[in-house]
Amino acid sequence: PSADGRRHYRLTLAPGTSELLPGRRTPTWGANGPYLAPTLRARRGDRVAMTVRNRLPEATTLHWHGMLLPASMDGGPHQMIPTGADWQPSWTVHQSAATLWYHPHPHGSTGSHVYRGVAGMIILDDEHSDRAALPRAYGVDDVPLVIQDKNFHADGTLDLTETKLAETVAGADNLGVLGDTILVNGTYDPYFRVTTRRVRLRLLNGSNARVYWLGFTDDRVFHQVATDAGLLQRPRALHRLLLAPGERAEIVVEFAPGDETVLRGFEPSLHLGFPTERFMGGDDTFDIIALRAAPRLEPSPALPARLDGAPAPVAAPAGARRRHFEFTGLQINGRTMDMGRVDEVVPAGTTEIWEVERGDDWVHVFHVHGAVFHVLDIGGKQPPPYARGPKDTFYLHEFGTARLAVRFDTLTDPRAPYMYHCHVLRHEDEGMMGQFTVV
Ligand code: C2O
Ligand code: CU
Ligand code: CU
Repeated sequence: PSADGRRHYRLTLAPGTSELLPGRRTPTWGANGPYLAPTLRARRGDRVAMTVRNRLPEATTLHWHGMLLPASMDGGPHQMIPTGADWQPSWTVHQSAATLWYHPHPHGSTGSHVYRGVAGMIILDDEHSDRAALPRAYGVDDVPLVIQDKNFHADGTLDLTETKLAETVAGADNLGVLGDTILVNGTYDPYFRVTTRRVRLRLLNGSNARVYWLGFTDDRVFHQVATDAGLLQRPRALHRLLLAPGERAEIVVEFAPGDETVLRGFEPSLHLGFPTERFMGGDDTFDIIALRAAPRLEPSPALPARLDGAPAPVAAPAGARRRHFEFTGLQINGRTMDMGRVDEVVPAGTTEIWEVERGDDWVHVFHVHGAVFHVLDIGGKQPPPYARGPKDTFYLHEFGTARLAVRFDTLTDPRAPYMYHCHVLRHEDEGMMGQFTVV
């Protein structure tokens, strides 16, 4: 924070070259560096002043995914930053501690801008996260992992080919990009040297389309402590968790001296039919990152029994407004994104029930800006354990309607809309997106 009480950040988006594969260089994009973007950190109550300088060869935006802030600061498709221009949004952080991220959101090109490398994490702290006895030494026992799948040409340059939907056959490969190479924080074949008994991993699926079913090769139990929008009420023991594009999860993993394990993406169950499941990555397994514990480990605090996360609503509030969204054929409710059309108008500070339905046999991931939701049920059944908690992004699991209790922010602006959309970036770019204002 500076003398004016604001936390100033400067992000310069620019092209560069990176050694993404060992010994090979490729053109990439990044912020304040040739690939990816710095982790931003702020606390509830902070006044953030941001300068985003676009030195890329294309107009773009920078969206703070998961941040509750005025729609005009959101960095969605309406806040375009022309090449050579600067954008200076500012806001006050007024939400709970969480792991968020930021990425471009220009309508029609989000997929390629993110894929070339513009994406970074945001860590928000508050008094609850201060009190929770969780590992918190950044890069030591509190480690961000940006998980992305890429394709490379034989010469090691990034393959920017996105499959256009018109070119796809019978639903095969309509995701735009499914990469065969995993990068974590831009690193190929990564490992992390564990030096403490417990490590907190902040997992972000920053991939364009791939869904990961994450666990460890030795099947060890880990504890999830946060979903997208903040801490859980108590740690949850899991073997696996599903992470769809845009989703985050924080987990705590325990190590004994000399332990070795690998975080792996196992074959995800995408709940699609045959053979779509296979074309969408349902048969794919990837090693994400190796974790190697030192022969002596520093002590870590015991996992707390309670985390003080916001309580989940147990049921829909009486009289809550219901809206239904059907994700089918790259449209939502039969409509394609129109920058000039506001699809929904929502009263500020209310909780609504949004019923989100996947109406076809494709991968779709629901994301809403300017709001936090809890999944009440899917097709009348309980949501899977890893999806219980405050969220802003959610994989649409089955031919069944997910009922979300969506709490909208209190900030209003009748002119600037927020977005809801599929977070498969190709689908978003093709117009599987709608707009709403909060008034
Ligand atoms: Cu992560 Cu509307 O986006
Ligand atoms: Cu977002
Ligand atoms: Cu989709």
